[in-house]
Amino acid sequence: MGATEQTGPEAARPIVALTGVAKRFGAVRALSDARLELHAGEAHALVGENGAGKSTLIKILAGLYRPDAGSVEIDGRPVAFAGTAEAKAAGIAVIYQEPALFGDLTVAENLFVGRQPKGRFGLIDRAEMNRRAAALLERLGVRLDPDRPAGGLSIADQQIVEIAGAIALDARVLVMDEPTAALSGVEVERLFGVVRSLRDDGAAVLFISHRFDEVEALCQRVTVMRDGAHVSTDRMDEVTVEQLVRRMVGRELGAMFPKREVEPGETVLEVEGLSRAGICRDVGFTVRAGEIVALAGLVGAGRSEVVQAVFGIEPRDTGTVRVDGRTLPSGSPRAAMRAGVALVPEDRRLQGLLLDLSVMRNATLVRRGRLSRFGFLTGGAERREAAEWTARLSTKYGRLTDPAATLSGGNQQKVVLAKWLAANPRLLIVDEPTRGIDVATKAEVHRLLSELAADGVAILMVSSELLEVLGMADRVLVMREGRIAGELSRAEATEESVMLLATGQEAAA
Ligand SMILES: Nc1ncnc2c1ncn2[C@@H]1O[C@H](COP(=O)(O)OP(=O)(O)OP(=O)(O)O)[C@@H](O)[C@H]1O
Ligand SMILES: [Mg+2]
Repeated sequence: MGATEQTGPEAARPIVALTGVAKRFGAVRALSDARLELHAGEAHALVGENGAGKSTLIKILAGLYRPDAGSVEIDGRPVAFAGTAEAKAAGIAVIYQEPALFGDLTVAENLFVGRQPKGRFGLIDRAEMNRRAAALLERLGVRLDPDRPAGGLSIADQQIVEIAGAIALDARVLVMDEPTAALSGVEVERLFGVVRSLRDDGAAVLFISHRFDEVEALCQRVTVMRDGAHVSTDRMDEVTVEQLVRRMVGRELGAMFPKREVEPGETVLEVEGLSRAGICRDVGFTVRAGEIVALAGLVGAGRSEVVQAVFGIEPRDTGTVRVDGRTLPSGSPRAAMRAGVALVPEDRRLQGLLLDLSVMRNATLVRRGRLSRFGFLTGGAERREAAEWTARLSTKYGRLTDPAATLSGGNQQKVVLAKWLAANPRLLIVDEPTRGIDVATKAEVHRLLSELAADGVAILMVSSELLEVLGMADRVLVMREGRIAGELSRAEATEESVMLLATGQEAAA
């Protein structure tokens, strides 16, 4: 595997050099021989499967964890950060996979927290603080009230605030761990514009992502990690995505969208006239057994809200939802589950996972609920069930009894998927089923969905990944501003036809 390093003019000394880094958590070896070099004026991608050790490596750089072995050098000098404050002082700003703002503080307070001596908060000049915050946000081209509590912001805006914080620090090194996982296309563009200008001003950028189109658009260099170790580092223009993927997974990948043709059966889900003030209006559709129906549209079009109303997490003002001909009461997930409906929610950290419970308990949570009507799921059966589903999704963890909180971001997602797949649903609703999941497992999730449909399960999928929609759906319902703007058959659905409906430009065309 050709590892070309330090070619061209940027062969100067790196700002950051991590060498031979190792880190264990109990029995789990998160890092064994990690290596990374970041250069001024360059965006560097770090890619690898879920659990490869990417987040752990940057937490070491951020001073959050101490390495067991290896060296961290800044400007050629070895450092041993005792905490995140020291890393910050060295000019390293990190935007973590999980947004880390204080919800109760305002945007401006979040931007300047930590750089104000403790205890003096009530005494600082708020007007001046808000002015400086507004100036920072303006540099990012965003309109955000600095006096607003951060807790009410969208994920995208929270990320922008974190980036503004990095700029306020005059960071020389900006690290972003999957910053785009919750962003729409426009927001990603805005973020990339900011990152490019920071990079061109001489900052070193590290970008972690499972989206290769973004990696290619932003980065000049790319490092692949596998099983906690360095595999390769190349100039982006000297390597193909296929090569990167092969190095990540250590084998050839099968088809990304292994869609099976299924003759749809009886109608399982019927939604009629579903409305909720300010959210959605007069939404109606059906999903038949064996069918995969996708809800497409821009972020904010109301897709997640519709599936949440169907499942009963959100109430509905008007409209009916029927499963197998039986009407579901509004606002009762319990009734939906009893009717055989499963929902894999979009925000899995908040809605899908009990972080303190073990991997095993999480994976069998729904199943146990359903089985408790007939009897107990014995310890052995629970273990077998959890082991089977987590293995089918190539979930990486130490022991089944480890708390879910210790899993990598992508592996937490897989546990949530396992939990609902194990429940053997009649109607499976998946909201962004492959967000944060690595490329090899994405293909695996698609294969599972396809198999479930072939077994007669009705599947309703919300996805912002157009290729996933086009690759997997039998029918595509495109939402715009809370309504269904149009329906496309598998044959009619193309990137163009979906986007036209999603943006409302088909009316003009
Ligand atoms: N605090 C912790 N305690 C125990 N194990 C941990 C802890 N943090 C990480 N691990 C383990 O270390 C390994 C690497 O995790 P890490 O979060 O670095 O992966 P990642 O490459 O960022 O994956 P993803 O793409 O899913 O975010 C995983 O097996 C994970 O379970
Ligand atoms: Mg991670």
